[in-house]
Amino acid sequence: MTTTTTTATVFLLLTIIATTNSATIYTGSITPNYTTTHFLLIDNSGDFLRSTNRNYTAAILNPQPESPSFYLLVYHSASHVVVWAANRNNPISNSGRVHVSFTGITINDDSGEQIWSTPEFNSTVASLQLLDTGNLILMDPFNNTLWQSFDHPMDTIVPGQKLPVGKTLTAVKSLADFSNGDYAFTVTSNDGMLQWKTLTYYRLLMDPKSVKNSNRPVDYMTVNGSGFYLGSESDVAIKVMIATADSDYKILKVTNDGHLVVMRYNNDWETDFSTPTDDCRPTFRCSKLGLCSGNGCSCPPGFRTDPVTKSGCVLLDTSLTLPAESCNENEHEMNRKTNSSEDFVYVHLGTGMKYFPIEFTDPVESGISLSKCEAACSSNCSCLGLFYGNYSGSCHLIQNSLGSIVLSSNNKTDDKQGLIKTIRLSTSSTSQNHNTSGSHSGFPIIGIILLPMITGVLIILIFAMWMIRRKNMNKAKRKYTKSSDNSDDLELFSIAGLPVRFDHEELVEATMNFSTPIGSGGFGTVYKGVLRDKTVVAVKKITALGAQGKKEFGTEIAIIGNIHHVNLVKLKGFCAHARERFLVYEYMNRGSLDRTLFRPGPLMEWQERYEIALGTARGLAYLHSGCEHKIIHCDVKPENILLSDNMQVKISDFGLSKLLSPEQSGLFTTMRGTRGYLAPEWLTNTAISDKTDVYSYGMVLLELIQGRKNCVQVPSHDSGNPSTSTEGQSSVSSGSQNRTPRARALYFPLQALEMHEAGRYLDLVEPRLASRVTNDEAQKLVKVALCCLHEDPSLRPTMANVVSMLEGTLPVGEPRVESLNFLRFYGRRFTEPSTVVTGAEIEVPSGFMLAAVVDSSSPSASPNSFSYMTSQVLSGPR
Ligand SMILES: *[C@@H]1O[C@H](CO)[C@@H](O)[C@H](O)[C@H]1NC(C)=O
Ligand SMILES: *[C@@H]1O[C@H](CO)[C@@H](O)[C@H](O)[C@H]1NC(C)=O
Ligand SMILES: *[C@@H]1O[C@H](CO)[C@@H](O)[C@H](O)[C@H]1NC(C)=O
Ligand SMILES: *[C@@H]1O[C@H](CO)[C@@H](O)[C@H](O)[C@H]1NC(C)=O
Ligand SMILES: *[C@@H]1O[C@H](CO)[C@@H](O)[C@H](O)[C@H]1NC(C)=O
Ligand SMILES: *[C@@H]1O[C@H](CO)[C@@H](O)[C@H](O)[C@H]1NC(C)=O
Ligand SMILES: *[C@@H]1O[C@H](CO)[C@@H](O)[C@H](O)[C@H]1NC(C)=O
Ligand SMILES: *[C@@H]1O[C@H](CO)[C@@H](O)[C@H](O)[C@H]1NC(C)=O
Ligand SMILES: *[C@@H]1O[C@H](CO)[C@@H](O)[C@H](O)[C@H]1NC(C)=O
Repeated sequence: MTTTTTTATVFLLLTIIATTNSATIYTGSITPNYTTTHFLLIDNSGDFLRSTNRNYTAAILNPQPESPSFYLLVYHSASHVVVWAANRNNPISNSGRVHVSFTGITINDDSGEQIWSTPEFNSTVASLQLLDTGNLILMDPFNNTLWQSFDHPMDTIVPGQKLPVGKTLTAVKSLADFSNGDYAFTVTSNDGMLQWKTLTYYRLLMDPKSVKNSNRPVDYMTVNGSGFYLGSESDVAIKVMIATADSDYKILKVTNDGHLVVMRYNNDWETDFSTPTDDCRPTFRCSKLGLCSGNGCSCPPGFRTDPVTKSGCVLLDTSLTLPAESCNENEHEMNRKTNSSEDFVYVHLGTGMKYFPIEFTDPVESGISLSKCEAACSSNCSCLGLFYGNYSGSCHLIQNSLGSIVLSSNNKTDDKQGLIKTIRLSTSSTSQNHNTSGSHSGFPIIGIILLPMITGVLIILIFAMWMIRRKNMNKAKRKYTKSSDNSDDLELFSIAGLPVRFDHEELVEATMNFSTPIGSGGFGTVYKGVLRDKTVVAVKKITALGAQGKKEFGTEIAIIGNIHHVNLVKLKGFCAHARERFLVYEYMNRGSLDRTLFRPGPLMEWQERYEIALGTARGLAYLHSGCEHKIIHCDVKPENILLSDNMQVKISDFGLSKLLSPEQSGLFTTMRGTRGYLAPEWLTNTAISDKTDVYSYGMVLLELIQGRKNCVQVPSHDSGNPSTSTEGQSSVSSGSQNRTPRARALYFPLQALEMHEAGRYLDLVEPRLASRVTNDEAQKLVKVALCCLHEDPSLRPTMANVVSMLEGTLPVGEPRVESLNFLRFYGRRFTEPSTVVTGAEIEVPSGFMLAAVVDSSSPSASPNSFSYMTSQVLSGPR
């Protein structure tokens, strides 16, 4: 692509958005009934209210341009540093609504659910004001403050703001996620303290820079040009003076790495003060059990870097394991009853190790022996380790969570020794227990005979369990070391619930040596076959079998074999022969939908299309929520929708994508699927979810309606026949002024959007069907399809809702044009003369990102590259 076309494209998009939105930025105050969204404010980059002195701005914004999370926030206008956010733990999308009413402020997400609000007042709200101090307040008609953001601080205080005793500044989780992180600063009546998950690791008074002025109790903390102060109106109890120009604007905040900082703004931010100065002090500096020293992070002796998370440490000794951080009272109680608590092993952390949080807690007991201290830890479920002072006999327990350890620089005599509680994986030790417990009891004669037999049986059982455990451990290991090929056959076929295993010869015979290919997909070719019992089958020969392929194969057969739904192709069995893998599926005699739909042949009736749409939706809905594991298809397209004579519709190739547990479902990022059916989130950093399938389904639905592919080349009729050109085509074909007659590309989804706006649904239906379909029938399918195409995944209906809409039990949703405008852009991309793609399918390689760099000479120049798919980008970095 050339720079000029790109620039033109960006301009087009800017123009579209500029002409659809315009909003005012208020100064000082807003009076209720005011509603807005980020999208409506896109022209103002999300801003809607400024303080009278313009120093602060209230806006609906995402912290980073790519982020889908938007917050109602107040920022420092000159530097864009966010000083407050309302819905920090409940972000909304760019179409989430902020509403200022006579009863307060409410924030609603896309579904209309209220996710944040001010409390109820017993007076009406007369205005929302942003004061010159940055305080966002609600006023009643008599100028009384009903509510103010200063009372609900986030991680920052600004000059003029008071942080009252007992209130906490909680750090953000990350710069892109404002939700509560693990570090916080709290003001107490005589000090201020930094905490990690409620464990104190720093007190203000121990800082050499702090000065204690008086013993009067503290009411609040403030910051101003000269430093920060804890005290009251009449008295400063503790002050931390910062020697820079008094007049500078300073703010105080807790950073997400556990520091309390004061920053000064004078055209740029500078950090004036940062504490603790010992970087190892913030308790999670080196993650769980990491060893922090001046040189960075390592692991204490006996531990190694956690191979999974690559941060924090795990035990070297694989026969031991750390207890879970969230303790399970019941399990613990049960272990205690069966005396297996004796299986706790305390691992020494080597000499000279410190753990800062214990400096701020009293020992649970003093003057006791180490073994008593260990017993105290063993008997407490939430205890994860201990520090024991050898000389004083003091016993400190580490509760609930483990942070990082520090190598002490000075080895005083009362340095405490650290011990970490671990659990011995009950293997050989239990067999010993059984041995010994038997040997010292005086059994009657019959016992003497039976005992060796019982013991023998037990030993065999334990040995068998040990073998299984070892195998599991090997399996786990193999996740990290790429599997050697031949060893895991046994393992593969020990998976529970496998379907029938076929002999290779049987399949050769059935398919007449693979002579009748009937299709091919991403994973390999499919052949028709007839088994000995005369059932016709489709045999898929897996060709894409790399190191990764074996795992996928194992997953597929184990999971798919157990999925039964009338709209999902049934897996009859599998075959593993040397390095070859085959899947045997039930046979669908009409083949895939694309063959009936896109190739010349008998007309497919509207009713049949409707049944196919419904069957496909039902199959997908089942995959998404009906079976034990949530399965995202990731490759929904007509080629994977199979038909048979008796109007059966079945989806194939499901489960080929990575299997997702419910927790993982937001994290799937492997790139697969076919361009044209790919949702925008494949091309941006947004998480892949079941809504990604919904998008592809929407694309398939449009193809069902029009009877041809969504992106096609149509022969240009020169200028002789312009009357056939619809709006969809004309706006799509930017190359309409091409001098040479050439094929024109048509992007049907855009046409569908435009016809929807014009209410001309029949124009979208395959012409041969036109007389047999009513506008209402067409409207229903087109609207469902467009809803599925919403750019914002959360605005797309679930597949279950699609089923209900098609069945008529749920009203058909109204497509939201603002979440479909990206189609205009897609349309251009598909039809750009220089980038016209013939045959609408391109396999998109992993990590491929379509990005256009804005011409730096353009007046709207931004230094950033645009991934042009999302409107979010235009909210831009500030
Ligand atoms: C607020 O505005 C909306 C639409 O602008 C209107 O429907 C609603 O009745 C108004 N509410 C009040 C209390 O005026
Ligand atoms: C507002 O900003 C200006 C310029 O940065 C500064 O001089 C002034 O003191 C600020 N006012 C307040 C109330 O912070
Ligand atoms: C309502 O307002 C009155 C007067 O401001 C106040 O005394 C009373 O406590 C308030 N009631 C509630 C429930 O907030
Ligand atoms: C509230 O304050 C504004 C601005 O200071 C003033 O104009 C108005 O008269 C005040 N209203 C009442 C009821 O005091
Ligand atoms: C900041 O506050 C302290 C205590 O109230 C005061 O002594 C000092 O003068 C103030 N500094 C500025 C620059 O306002
Ligand atoms: C647990 O062990 C203690 C001593 O080791 C013993 O006294 C007690 O009876 C045992 N309890 C059970 C339930 O085995
Ligand atoms: C375990 O320790 C915690 C924290 O010290 C304490 O609150 C809890 O009561 C203890 N539990 C038992 C069973 O001793
Ligand atoms: C603990 O102190 C005793 C004397 O009180 C001493 O004999 C022993 O070696 C010390 N152990 C350790 C690990 O420092
Ligand atoms: C204490 O420090 C000295 C010198 O710094 C060192 O030789 C010695 O090994 C240390 N002792 C321990 C127990 O770490």
